[in-house]
Amino acid sequence: MRATEPRTLAPPARRTAHVTSVERLGAYHLIRALDSAGPADPEPGQFYMLSSAEGWGGGEDERPYLPRAFSYARVREGELSFLLEVVGPGTARLAALVPGEGVALLGPLGVGWRPAHEGTRALLVGGGIGAAPLICLEEQLLGDSGAAGGEPPVVLLGFRSAAHAHAAALFAGAPALATDDGSAGRQALVTDLLREQLDADPAATVFACGPHAMLEAVRLTCAEVGVPAQLALGAGMACGFGACFGCVVATRDGYIRLCVEGPVLDAEQLA
Ligand SMILES: Cc1cc2nc3c(=O)[nH]c(=O)nc-3n(C[C@H](O)[C@H](O)[C@H](O)COP(=O)(O)OP(=O)(O)OC[C@H]3O[C@@H](n4cnc5c(N)ncnc54)[C@H](O)[C@@H]3O)c2cc1C
Ligand code: FES
Repeated sequence: MRATEPRTLAPPARRTAHVTSVERLGAYHLIRALDSAGPADPEPGQFYMLSSAEGWGGGEDERPYLPRAFSYARVREGELSFLLEVVGPGTARLAALVPGEGVALLGPLGVGWRPAHEGTRALLVGGGIGAAPLICLEEQLLGDSGAAGGEPPVVLLGFRSAAHAHAAALFAGAPALATDDGSAGRQALVTDLLREQLDADPAATVFACGPHAMLEAVRLTCAEVGVPAQLALGAGMACGFGACFGCVVATRDGYIRLCVEGPVLDAEQLA
């Protein structure tokens, strides 16, 4: 696995990628866009600031206006995939893109996942739309473990329901699945699966992304078992490159801008 530090420098201007497909994936949308002018090798865990090239801003209440942050889920020969959950006007507009339209983007931004600790197995834990940055991580780790003859990563995913769990099909392996309502996989929390997996094999490095409460539970479990964890955090991001200070989070060493120092942080950095 390659290290993402020092952070990669994205081309400094917004550019336009061309939408190649928008696919409904249960409760989510998968947007693919050809980013011919951008770097072909973003690192898993990095993100892009996206907006539609047309029809972004204006409207009766002047929203949406600022671009929105999205982890990339996959990259194939310059074609980026983003897994998206519609929660407001920005994500609704992006989900309504059609092939041939332009999507304005800036990135790749931030610092992604770092290598697993020596001698540990990678344990990927995703909650809901937080599965997105784990898809490319799994792909990278499978490539690395295949080349080195090592153990493949273990993937644990939790979703609200079977409709959200369609996203599990984007993983190459067979992820263990939990849903809140039991409509797919086990009726459990993904943190229950994590606890069981760590009881069975504590020689792990955990890579987690999901809602805040899930990440806090992952952080506490890993601290208790003494397992290193990396957490991809979320925060409202207005610029994505360190200028607005809108994304600051408190760490043991003071406040940091998540878009520059993260979005992936070591769990032990957090207070
Ligand atoms: C680094 C990073 C990577 C992300 N990757 C993805 C991804 O791969 N797929 C995806 O669907 N979403 C992702 N998000 C979240 C995405 O940026 C927000 O859902 C989006 O900005 C919402 O815009 P909106 O205009 O649709 O809704 P808004 O009206 O802006 O927000 C709708 C609701 O969501 C809340 N919200 C908005 N942004 C965030 C956030 N960052 N964290 C927590 N709550 C938020 C708001 O408080 C509000 O309640 C990511 C966020 C970050 C910071
Ligand atoms: S989003 Fe502007 S400083 Fe981080």
